[in-house]
Amino acid sequence: MKRKDIIEFEIDKMEFGGTSIVYINDKEIHMKGGIKGQKVKAIVKKARSKKAEVKMIELIEKSPLETAKTCKHFDECGGCTILSLPYETQLQIKERQVMDLFLSQDIFGFKFLGIEKSPQNTMYRNKMEYTFGDEKKDGPLTLGLHKKGKHIDIMTVDDCVLVDDDFIKVLTKTVNYFDDKKLPYYRTMNHKGYLRNLVVRKGINTKELMINLVTSSQEDFDMTEYKDLLLSLDTEAKIVSILHTINDNLADAVNCDKLEVLYGRDYLNEEVLGLKFKISPFSFFQTNTKGAEKLYEIAREFIGDNKDKVVFDLYSGTGTIGQVMAKSSKKVYGIEIVEEAVKVANENAKLNKIDNCDFIAGDVAKTVKNLKDKPDLIIVDPPRPGVHKDAIKDICSFESKEIIYISCNPKTLVIDLVEFKNYGYKVELVKCMDMFPNTPHIETVVKLVKI
Ligand SMILES: C[S@@+](CC[C@H](N)C(=O)[O-])C[C@H]1O[C@@H](n2cnc3c(N)ncnc32)[C@H](O)[C@@H]1O
Repeated sequence: MKRKDIIEFEIDKMEFGGTSIVYINDKEIHMKGGIKGQKVKAIVKKARSKKAEVKMIELIEKSPLETAKTCKHFDECGGCTILSLPYETQLQIKERQVMDLFLSQDIFGFKFLGIEKSPQNTMYRNKMEYTFGDEKKDGPLTLGLHKKGKHIDIMTVDDCVLVDDDFIKVLTKTVNYFDDKKLPYYRTMNHKGYLRNLVVRKGINTKELMINLVTSSQEDFDMTEYKDLLLSLDTEAKIVSILHTINDNLADAVNCDKLEVLYGRDYLNEEVLGLKFKISPFSFFQTNTKGAEKLYEIAREFIGDNKDKVVFDLYSGTGTIGQVMAKSSKKVYGIEIVEEAVKVANENAKLNKIDNCDFIAGDVAKTVKNLKDKPDLIIVDPPRPGVHKDAIKDICSFESKEIIYISCNPKTLVIDLVEFKNYGYKVELVKCMDMFPNTPHIETVVKLVKI
């Protein structure tokens, strides 16, 4: 097998993160995407003696496992790669993938409590970040998600099953309005153009809607008509916030140079497990609200009685976990790098009449060692790259009896767990929570105890 060869095979296995694997003549072939049982044609990108990387060029035959109804975007959209699998099959595959990752790092001897379903497996997302573009060169304006394997082409996802009708109404109105106005979309290649993103957020339990249009500063367009058009929409949730963000940052991400409130307020309310949370436009909030309630309940079960404990909530975001734990704790300290999220977390605590939480802005790897109180329990909920090695060292130096690790990336989780083991912690309990149905992602909760 050599570079540029075209090969055909049936997919044997799906690894966590959306990679397929097949063994051909003792060679381990890796391919992005694909579903177990699919027959595919692929081109060899890299070939070594024992391994090869290939790219799918044609789906020859669907997998017999693919019996679920899909949406009209499924074949081309890079969003829900496993929507065609029945939900029970998705859960079995994800559970196996997480266990394989634990085994790959020789992590044994813990109690595995299986995988918890998402309360909803469609229409579960409370936030979507859409991008403006076109589907083909100089075609009509599109607004949505990137096409599978494409960096530039954007498809309007008006049949997406991950969100409810409110998202679709805002998306459709916005793309049609700006297509009529013939405003140019922002091109990431030459950094020219105006329309960049549309971010829609919904308070699932409060039925509030935030709409944030993100543009460059390259035009001076009056947004009054657009704002009025949005307000005339017949949405289930009440529109409480319409924002215009100016972003001239060259990176292909939603950043904020200037924020203008076109209507209402600059935050959204949400409720989780009876607590109120103000969510600001750029701070993290779990994207599956009903799933987040289950996730936090799993963490609570793992902790059991935390009466009079001093708790560290590291990577605290808007302070959800800390506040869920606060009622029965003596004191909670949260650390979060996004200052705006910290400000909101402290406001949220006040709103919930919680006075034993202190959220601090900073990088966990630099700040946690400055905390003076000795924790009985540490909860870490890091972003996808996991916990920095320096932070693991500092966290372990507190010698708390228990650590709860909530992870959205089991690949970095298992690597970090080995590091925690080196500092004298052992994995006691593991449970997965499917926060992201129809996609390859999964949340995993781990309880570590000091040996
Ligand atoms: C997976 S989110 C968890 C948020 C929160 N625990 C929740 O459930 O809503 C990870 C958070 O870590 C923050 N973060 C990323 N790197 C960080 C760092 N080095 N130090 C502190 N916080 C960080 C992100 O801004 C984000 O809010």
